[in-house]
Amino acid sequence: MSIISVTFVQKDGSERLLAGIPATGTLMEAGRSVGVDGILADCGGACDCGTCHVYVPPEWTKRVGPPNDIETDTLDLMVQNFEPGRSRLSCQIRLSSELDGLRVTVATT
Ligand code: FES
Repeated sequence: MSIISVTFVQKDGSERLLAGIPATGTLMEAGRSVGVDGILADCGGACDCGTCHVYVPPEWTKRVGPPNDIETDTLDLMVQNFEPGRSRLSCQIRLSSELDGLRVTVATT
């Protein structure tokens, strides 16, 4: 199992670096496990609530990959401040060695 680091930029601009975490599970689970502000994950990762909304910077979108149809529908219906090409639900981003160094911004929904 790979060990990676990811960073969340919280709504107040402060950063939460999660260093040396296992590359398993989802980005949402990693963020929620340390109480990242704004990662509420009300539906527990079922891609149904939109309360794990993050922005992925352009330099990471290819490695993170695009949302599938179900995630796209949830983004359309459940989040405010949607940003095409950047908005993702962190419960749908599976951690992997490819995402070591990922830095996302928590959205305001
Ligand atoms: S946790 Fe509900 S959509 Fe991600």
